[in-house]
Amino acid sequence: MQVAIIGANGQLGTDLCRELAAQSVSVLPLTRRELDVSDSAQVERVLGSIKADVVISTAAFHKVEECEKQAAQSFAVNAVGPRNLALACRQNNAVLVHFSTDYVFDGGQCQPYMETDLPRPLNVYGVSKLAGEHMVRLTWERHFVIRTCGLYGVAGSAGKGGNFVETMLKKGHEGSPVRVVNDQVLTPTFTGDLAEAVAKLIQTESYGLYHISAEGECSWYEFAHKIFELEKLAVDLTPVSTNEFPSPVQRPAYSVLSKQKLKGVGLRMPSWEHGLTHYLAARRDARKTANTSLR
Ligand SMILES: NC(=O)c1ccc[n+]([C@@H]2O[C@H](COP(=O)([O-])OP(=O)(O)OC[C@H]3O[C@@H](n4cnc5c(N)ncnc54)[C@H](OP(=O)(O)O)[C@@H]3O)[C@@H](O)[C@H]2O)c1
Repeated sequence: MQVAIIGANGQLGTDLCRELAAQSVSVLPLTRRELDVSDSAQVERVLGSIKADVVISTAAFHKVEECEKQAAQSFAVNAVGPRNLALACRQNNAVLVHFSTDYVFDGGQCQPYMETDLPRPLNVYGVSKLAGEHMVRLTWERHFVIRTCGLYGVAGSAGKGGNFVETMLKKGHEGSPVRVVNDQVLTPTFTGDLAEAVAKLIQTESYGLYHISAEGECSWYEFAHKIFELEKLAVDLTPVSTNEFPSPVQRPAYSVLSKQKLKGVGLRMPSWEHGLTHYLAARRDARKTANTSLR
């Protein structure tokens, strides 16, 4: 099986490349320089020439505040981009794996969202990602559209620069008080765990829409608390309400995704606490390797 990975240097892209290569899958990593999903001619040309069996795209414009100001760019990458990919995959009979987001929901529920629940995004990013899902589903049936939530990986988000865990660890080591919102509930998901699940899912032909995030739920405050606890950092951490961080962008107050459908195809995700432990160990290993190679 030959798998092309678009957005290969992002946090999820990096873990997908590593996970699939470890399983002896032939991986073709593509960065934005080699393939810009919003350029339909380039997508057609590149995917036509490589003839991958599976195309996985992690590409997104996901700086939520920027998306609000740049709706056209948001739609070019998050909606037209997936359409370009789906058309090229249809042309080449390749399976398409596309990632979407918990931000397609409005957060009004207080129990995990199923794939059959009605999306109602609260911001331009969410609307553009929902449009991207529809573009894929409309264009090419051999697809996996995967909604995920609160990603963090060792490579750090290319689009956002770093991730929440690193931000917390930096603040914790600086020793200043830390205030974190306690009224947005989600499931933080380690990209290494997501990559493992995706590697298994693409071995099946159970195409369609899936929710894949870690198991369980917590607020951002509870997540920060666990980070400091596991790293044994004594931090002056205070829970605050979203209103204390005024933003032009509305975010869902609750965006936990149900994994019931995923379990139906025999796949399970670890808990978010397990994912965090796994991440902290992977991060330590990456630092050790970097220090050794500097010597
Ligand atoms: N991060 C989260 O918390 C989160 C939550 C839910 C869903 N998701 C979804 O999960 C996916 C992966 O997210 P991530 O956190 O791994 O993001 P990331 O680290 O920012 O990686 C995204 C990758 O996409 C590339 N890219 C951006 N625009 C592109 C374009 N026009 N053409 C080709 N490549 C492009 C980026 O390249 P450059 O480095 O050149 O910009 C980067 O390599 C995205 O679809 C996102 O919407 C993320």
